Amino acid sequence: MRHLLSTKDLSRDEAINLLDIAEDMADVAQREVKKLPTLRGKTVVNLFFEDSTRTRISFEAAAKRLSADVINFSAKGSSVSKGESLKDTAQTLAAIGADGVVIRHPASGGPAVLAASGWIDAGIINAGDGTHEHPTQALLDAFTIRRRIHGQASRSRGLDGVTVTIVGDVLHSRVARSNLWLLTTLGAEVTFVAPPTLLPSNTALWPARFSFDLDDAIDAGPDVVMMLRIQTERMSAAFFPSSREYSRVWGLDDARFGRLGPASIVMHPGPMNRGLEISSAAADSANSTVLEQVTNGVSVRMAALYLLLSGDRKESKNVD
Ligand code: CP
Repeated sequence: MRHLLSTKDLSRDEAINLLDIAEDMADVAQREVKKLPTLRGKTVVNLFFEDSTRTRISFEAAAKRLSADVINFSAKGSSVSKGESLKDTAQTLAAIGADGVVIRHPASGGPAVLAASGWIDAGIINAGDGTHEHPTQALLDAFTIRRRIHGQASRSRGLDGVTVTIVGDVLHSRVARSNLWLLTTLGAEVTFVAPPTLLPSNTALWPARFSFDLDDAIDAGPDVVMMLRIQTERMSAAFFPSSREYSRVWGLDDARFGRLGPASIVMHPGPMNRGLEISSAAADSANSTVLEQVTNGVSVRMAALYLLLSGDRKESKNVD
């Protein structure tokens, strides 16, 4: 694998292989010495043009557990704030010898531009681009679902027949898009539940069902309910008139959470707006995988870095 830009690029076999390698990485995390020498001598740059807590620290932990050198670059406080271009930033990273670049960018397609540019010969991982995709979030979500459902027998398996209901601000969610492509590739059945104003207009070709009634969707008893963050920073009042109204109609509140079965999995990619899209009772329950998702993110990102950077880049297969 040369770059990881979109879950749309992954075949079922490639996705399962990555999840299986993540299982091996999770086994390493149980050892007293959690480090592998696999990427010794390689340099990974975390290039973040947007804020992040989970993704950035988890990529840093993943790279360090594989013995790579890690450079954290935030646009705030860098020469990007003086107007430096992506090209000049990328060429600067090339000049210091970056082997891998983990990039979060506000523009949909930013990581793909970097991968195709020729400005830097490095493996590029999309850590979230605009409203487009967040592939490693979807991979860690799939890993978490697979582990909860299949337990010790997870390896080599997909998510055939697993029902996943994704709720909320689909319009602005790169997590929703990456999950749609990956979960359906793995055999899951995806239903989106959202206010009409928070659904994209181009969903005709999406392999999913759509509903505008969260109570109906909850009472259908899905295996997984994935709540999305309301992205107020990307929307105007026309999309989102009132927090109280949103929570009443579209939130996983205590009453709706109480109607879920004991085996239903409650997910959220974080950061959460507690009391808005999800209640604290739901987020902190035994059904919730919110912190498991964070833990699993390190193993999944180790697997992605391993697949991109451990071989000879000139011989690696280009699947971008
Ligand atoms: N889920 C996620 O991408 O979180 P961060 O924005 O904190 O990285």
